Amino acid sequence: MNYQELYNQSIQNPAKFWTEQANEIDWYTKPQQILSADETGYPLWYKDGNLNACYLAIDKHINDGFGDQIAIIYDSPVTQTVKKYTYNEVKSEVARLAGGLLSLGLKKGNTAIIYMPMIPQATFAMLACARIGVTHSVVFGGFAPHELAIRIDDCKPRIIITASSGIEIDRLIAYKPLVDEAIALATHKPKKVVILNRKLGARIPFKKYDVDYDALVYGSEEAECVPVETTHPLYVLYTSGTTGKPKGIVRDTGGYAVALKFSMEKIYGVKPGEVFWAASDVGWVVGHSFIVYGPLINRNTTIVFEGKPIRTPDASTFWRVIAEHKVSVMFTAPTAIRAIKKEDPNGEFIKKYDLSSLRTQFLAGERCDVATLEWYREHIPVPAIDHWWQTESGWPMICNMMGVEYLPIKPGSSGKAVSGYNIKILGEEGQELGPNEEGYVVIKLPLPPGTLLDIWNDNERFQAGYLNKYPGYYFSGDGGYIDEDNYIFITGRVDDVINVAGHRLSTAEMEEIVASHHAVAECAVIGINDELKGQIPLALVVSKHGETIEHFQLQYEIVQLVREQIGAVASLRDVVIVERLPKTRSGKILRKLLRSIADGENFQIPSTIDDEAIIDEVKGVLEIAKIGSFK
Ligand code: COA
Ligand code: AMP
Repeated sequence: MNYQELYNQSIQNPAKFWTEQANEIDWYTKPQQILSADETGYPLWYKDGNLNACYLAIDKHINDGFGDQIAIIYDSPVTQTVKKYTYNEVKSEVARLAGGLLSLGLKKGNTAIIYMPMIPQATFAMLACARIGVTHSVVFGGFAPHELAIRIDDCKPRIIITASSGIEIDRLIAYKPLVDEAIALATHKPKKVVILNRKLGARIPFKKYDVDYDALVYGSEEAECVPVETTHPLYVLYTSGTTGKPKGIVRDTGGYAVALKFSMEKIYGVKPGEVFWAASDVGWVVGHSFIVYGPLINRNTTIVFEGKPIRTPDASTFWRVIAEHKVSVMFTAPTAIRAIKKEDPNGEFIKKYDLSSLRTQFLAGERCDVATLEWYREHIPVPAIDHWWQTESGWPMICNMMGVEYLPIKPGSSGKAVSGYNIKILGEEGQELGPNEEGYVVIKLPLPPGTLLDIWNDNERFQAGYLNKYPGYYFSGDGGYIDEDNYIFITGRVDDVINVAGHRLSTAEMEEIVASHHAVAECAVIGINDELKGQIPLALVVSKHGETIEHFQLQYEIVQLVREQIGAVASLRDVVIVERLPKTRSGKILRKLLRSIADGENFQIPSTIDDEAIIDEVKGVLEIAKIGSFK
């Protein structure tokens, strides 16, 4: 069946289509109600099914006779370690860790936070939670204690699973003190902290609530998989929204498992037994879907990579990993390719490795600029496929479905709508726009299985943020257009979310933090274009009247404040002090105008502007500071 036939089937008769896909996974109780709705009318898939994601990811393959196949390769250039785990070995560790968690009092319905670097134990912890019906919430290791504390208070974990430390290139990051600080900051207090001692760096004193990971695993009996309902939350993953508070995207178990199995086969075109590598982090949705659950459910070998595309030790790392582990299909962010390209513009490192195992390179996390795509295509003779999705969707929404049909690539487009996603472009008034007309990217309900179920503890925000803007449609927050051949072009966020090196961050949250500085009267944080990271944040700050603090001191303190509160990953380095900010006559800061000025784009002066003279003032300050297009 070709792409179009498959797509048409999925849209014309979704229930029939997803009944067939549900047959591709094992259930304890096969669902009879394929498509129903919750009490608010939001579509639900496979409501009456029962299954277990950990069973599908591990036990099933052992039962099918593949226990000796390598499930996980841990490749860590920062510790110079390569370690391989078979499905049998993964089961042994995960089942005992799950037994240990039960002995700590965890049970189905509880939540647990996992705050770990890219080590196999992070995946074991996720799978152990899934095994016993505990909803996990993985927090990216680059987030600071304040961010961790927000998540602790929102999802109220009974325990936190962490490691003593992580390694950022050549820098040891002590995780445990960050966890202790977050617990001190949070109102909710987890009962226990399970800590994997990596025996790197200084010894960290144990607290009363600490439990040693190794002792827990080795002292516990194996726990069996607990059947859970399809809609049981497998995980809550926090992502940035348009307010200062991150939102906990709730993922179901059954729809997700079906969608991931479908993705591995039909989107990534990868067969069981092959090596699949997503060079991301378990703290992001890519890590959940395509480092852990997707490849393992599809019986692939997945790679847990603890390193960066460059400087660990150099720009050859990716090619070394592909060659050494015979990776068939790889996934990374365009920013990683840009970083490699910058270090090795002529691809000299690429020539040193046998990349013949590689069939397809997938790119996502941010828009893939044409120059990066072309560079990749010039140096590596495999299709480089841009594809679009979000934490909310959990799996790709726009893509060239490589397991179905390889369609011609149009640079700048992330491909066509994936089966199940009825993507439309709407104008401000909700009218459907025609070919090549730019508007809001929305998806006609029902969304397919595996997409977000809710926002944790905040259904009102879920309805308001995604469903109410255009009733009957899911609002993605991205802008774009569809061309006459049904190729979709994503042009960027239409809200205050920015994308820094493939990491999704909220400028509203940064603004709240910057504004909390005692010398700041008001501020605006905007995302400006950056050659390497795609976007970086820029803070424009008006200091309080009569403040005597030196500008450089204020700039330094603001940068530190954001690093301390969100984490270094926010990458806020540029702070400019301005006399005033451009506003509308009703007092709203004109952020879009600021972005256009900083990026050197053409813009129209809004008719609502309070005072046009501010535009030249801001231009002047950016020029002096050598920021944005004024560098
Ligand atoms: N733990 C602690 N700190 C972290 C961290 C982590 N897990 N991840 C990043 N940081 C810190 C970095 O050390 C850096 O700190 P610094 O300002 O003190 O140097 C800061 O956060 C910014 O990190 P990063 O965004 O990684 O920038 P970089 O300049 O170190 O590296 C790239 C640039 C392009 C190589 C890197 O961003 C990269 O590999 N990007 C790809 C990311 C990706 O795959 N995203 C896709 C998710 S799907
Ligand atoms: P996240 O939820 O962190 O995965 O970020 C999702 C957001 O990243 C999307 O809403 C887009 O704005 C952006 N994004 C991800 N992939 C792409 C892509 N291939 N092209 C354009 N934007 C993308």
